[in-house]
Amino acid sequence: MLDWDNLEAQCLACSRCSLCEHRHNVVFGVGSRSAEVMFIGEGPGEQEDLTGEPFVGRAGKLLDTMLDCIDLDRSRVYIANMVKCRPPHNRDPLQLEQEACAEWLQNQIELIQPKIIVCLGRISAMAFIKPDFKITREHGKWFDIGGRRCMALYHPAALLRDPNRRPDTFLDLKALQAEIQTICTRTYL
Ligand code: URA
Repeated sequence: MLDWDNLEAQCLACSRCSLCEHRHNVVFGVGSRSAEVMFIGEGPGEQEDLTGEPFVGRAGKLLDTMLDCIDLDRSRVYIANMVKCRPPHNRDPLQLEQEACAEWLQNQIELIQPKIIVCLGRISAMAFIKPDFKITREHGKWFDIGGRRCMALYHPAALLRDPNRRPDTFLDLKALQAEIQTICTRTYL
């Protein structure tokens, strides 16, 4: 396992897959490195590629609103993506790209040791919770994976496309808040 400085330096110089060829920035992750709650998205979009920060586009603004609903903000959690470079035309990251990138995120998880992992969207839930994860049926449900509490929310981009899913997400966020209040000691300090 690498320490933060080495991890970040090596990740920023990564050329393990072809996504590195067209990137403007590697989107490493933001937030507290001692967070108890970690959010994992899919991969950077255009704004994230241009700024180097996860979830700063329209979906990111909605993620901020979702966090705000349960009295959280970016400084109290850690936010990262499965792949650190933007897939062209915002397509889903290929299996090969996910595998090439997995070690960076795994190392981040090992350094942070979050109590709770929140997968943002189906792709992240399939990688972290189970390969046959069904987001419409299983969003908001808790799973114990490797000693951590894990749940998936609808991806904020999906909530922008289909606002009918927002009431469900509000309930999922409340379930997340309750779990944080039960098992986390520092998040709401
Ligand atoms: N969608 C993601 O999954 N991650 C981002 O950083 C931005 C949009």
